[in-house]
Amino acid sequence: MKKLMAANWKMYKTWDEAQATARDLVGLAAGKLPADREVLVFPPFTALKAVSDVLDPVPGFSTGGQDYYYEKEGAFTGEISPAMLKDVGAAYGLTGHSERRHILGEGDECVGRKTAYGLSKGLKVILCIGELIEERKADRVEEVLERQLRIGLKDVSADFDPEQLSVAYEPVWAIGTGEVAGPAEIVEAHTFIRKNLISLFGEKANEMRILYGGSVKPENCGDIIALDNVDGVLVGGASLHGESFSRIVLA
Ligand code: PGA
Repeated sequence: MKKLMAANWKMYKTWDEAQATARDLVGLAAGKLPADREVLVFPPFTALKAVSDVLDPVPGFSTGGQDYYYEKEGAFTGEISPAMLKDVGAAYGLTGHSERRHILGEGDECVGRKTAYGLSKGLKVILCIGELIEERKADRVEEVLERQLRIGLKDVSADFDPEQLSVAYEPVWAIGTGEVAGPAEIVEAHTFIRKNLISLFGEKANEMRILYGGSVKPENCGDIIALDNVDGVLVGGASLHGESFSRIVLA
């Protein structure tokens, strides 16, 4: 299984800025990318084409959409479909990011519909899950992760390809705060997630990737990526510059 090194650019970068960063990244990392690594960038929708034009021709590099809606088309002002993402070069889609859950108000049911719909339309999907600090303090981490997985994956068809579906564990308190989860916390959560995936999907869950996200930096990425059941990283702040993200990709 290849390690997936993913960049989430959130609501940053115009067309020109995004394309320049993508070019920097390719210049710094493409020639040195190990065969067991894959690089993925989630630009804002408006810069997806700018970035996919640069990354798509490079082996091991691809792009994705940070969100999408679970309908083909229609009167859904402001929304975008998996087909529209694919049309501008996206291979992946992200569902359930904590900012969509906690700032934009998306619930588990909505995240579940998006996850199953994107997969059924040929996107590779990364479902994000993770607990709030209050939930961790109240010893509710497993309860939260179990619920987000069960509802987030409930409509996924049983014959899905495990290479098409990944889970990102992103403790909300570690996102954008500089406070990275410790190795024991990461391993504990990822082991719990793997067990849950196996109970939902059987042995093929061993072929699904589980990414870690939350304050990943060039300095800590090498240690994180070497942990058990960590099959990649999802990086926000430290992915915004080609120099910094290239060090993460090659860590
Ligand atoms: P961060 O964001 O790396 O800035 O903590 C991670 C994410 O939101 O995916």
